[in-house]
Parts: sequence; C-alpha cells; structure tokens
Amino acid sequence: MTNQHEKSIKGILLAGGSGTRLYPLTAVSSKQLLPIYDKPMIYYPLTTLMLAGIREIMIISTPHDIPQIKRLLGNGSDIGMKFDYCVQPKPEGIAQAFVLAEEWLDASPCALVLGDNLIFASHLSQLLQKAVQRKSGATIFSYQVSDPERYGVVTFDENGKVTQIVEKPKDPPSNWAVTGLYFYDSRVTEYAKKIKPSARGEYEITDLNKIYFENDNLHVERLGRGCAWLDAGIPASLMQAGNFVQMIQARQGILVGSPAEVAYHRGFINAEQLRAIAKKLNKTDLGRMLMDVANEGFNQK
Ligand code: TTP
Repeated sequence: MTNQHEKSIKGILLAGGSGTRLYPLTAVSSKQLLPIYDKPMIYYPLTTLMLAGIREIMIISTPHDIPQIKRLLGNGSDIGMKFDYCVQPKPEGIAQAFVLAEEWLDASPCALVLGDNLIFASHLSQLLQKAVQRKSGATIFSYQVSDPERYGVVTFDENGKVTQIVEKPKDPPSNWAVTGLYFYDSRVTEYAKKIKPSARGEYEITDLNKIYFENDNLHVERLGRGCAWLDAGIPASLMQAGNFVQMIQARQGILVGSPAEVAYHRGFINAEQLRAIAKKLNKTDLGRMLMDVANEGFNQK
C-alpha cells in the first residue's frame, strides 16, 4: 500500500450551476437552497457524504451563492464536520470540480455528490462503505429511469460488467442512468485535467468516468427497487422529492436528510450537542424529531 492510499477520503459537494430549468425559482436563489419539504435541498446530498463517513467536505458553488450557503452551513463544527468553500466562476462542468479542488484534495481519494441529488436506500451506509474501501479506481451508481436521455447512461453484459458509458444519448442504449454520486481514487485530478470541453462547452463527468472505464477500473453499483434516487432539477422532480420526504417522515416517523441526525448516529457529536441544535428548531417537527433522537439514544435504530 502506498502513502496516497492511506489518506482518508474527502468529499466534494458541487452546488453551483445555473438552475435554468427551474426559472424563475432560481432567478435569485441557489437551486440547492430551495426547499425539499422541510429542509434546504443541500442537506440531502450533504447527508449522503456523511453516511459514507466523510468529515471533510469542500462545497463548490457560484460566486453569488457561496455567501448564502456559508450562512446556512458555516464551518460545520456544530455537527462535527469541517467545511471549506470554493468558487466555481462559471458552470463549466462537473469534472471541473476536481481541478478547482486540486490543492485542497492533496491527492486524497474523494467522493463527489451533486447538490440536487437525493438518494434514499436501505443499507445505504453499507453500500457507500464498499465504495470507500475500494483502494483503486472509481465507483459510480446507476438507477433505472424512464427518461435516461437526460443523464449519463451505462450498459452491462450478462455478467453485470459495464460495456459502455455515454452522456445524454439521444437514443439511450439502456435505462440505467448514472446518479450524481461518484467515488474516485487519488488519480482523479490527474485524469480530470486531461478532459477537453465537450460540444456543449462543459468538462463532462462522463468523460472522466470513461477514462476509468478504459483503464478497466470503473465499478458500477446498480441501485435496485429498494432505493429511491431523485434529482430535483425540474419543477416536477422538485415536487416529487418534497412529497417523498414528507411521506416517509410522516409515515415512519424517521428523518430523511438531516445532517445533525447523521452526525449524532455516526458519533461526530454527542446527545448534548444534538439537543442544542434541536432546541433552535423547537417550533418545528424537525426539531421535535431531533430532540426525540437525542433522548432515545441508539436503541431505536
Ligand atoms: P445540472 O442540473 O446539469 O445544471 P444546472 O444546475 O446548472 O441546471 P440547469 O440545467 O437547469 O441550468 O447540474 C447538476 C448539479 O451540478 C447541480 O447541483 C448544479 C451542479 N453543477 C455545478 O455546480 N457546476 C457545474 O458546472 C455544473 C454543470 C453543475
């Protein structure tokens, strides 16, 4: 094992973009700060990174949106996290994140999540652990959708091995879309720098994944029926995501997408710290549910 592999994994939360498909909702506000039911959208992908055990996160967004995101999340110390911020001057593509964050990454392995992606799955932590523990290559997740032409699409052979990966195909070769959660080894920046802008002028994450694929080092986990993957990029999916969270929380009495709860269950903060967060939200169901979590301890999970 080399020194590089011993570095612990860092996370990038990409929360810029222009959100044009949500105009006028995003005319003055960041897409990632819009509500998904009772929480800002960015809480959900943040929680996903935390479930992978990641504690150091670089949040990348536009010059306009960074100050508001900072006001919401701060430096992360209240939930036992460490947040840093980086400006992406223009939305020139997802893969640009690794070049912008090169110094901060310092050749650590890294997970990137898109700020408008919500993943809800049984055993999500275990699934993520598998990706974290993989010492070499890339791990991405795919999910069957009815509109694959909006996404990167993968195909598999009969043994489940990836045979092709294409970006937004007009004529999709399968229904397996690539989700906005990616894990890479320490070579990611080196590879990201090799990418040239696509016809639409973006540094495409699919081109980065293709480099790993061509090196026979791209692992694709298929998310099955027990999982929900939603991206809240258009009005209908924003509403669906909100309805989904409301339904699960009301029906099961559990929280979806609460960074404070995950911080507590992971041992990043103690019950006293969770109570302090819950107290500030005491007029809301969210605050009451967090207080219950702090008072019940681990025996409910
Ligand atoms: P997209 O939905 O592809 O782009 P967008 O958010 O700009 O929206 P629209 O297509 O409606 O104009 O982006 C997916 C996620 O990645 C979203 O959370 C924004 C983020 N993103 C960046 O932060 N920087 C980028 O350069 C790109 C392309 C996306």
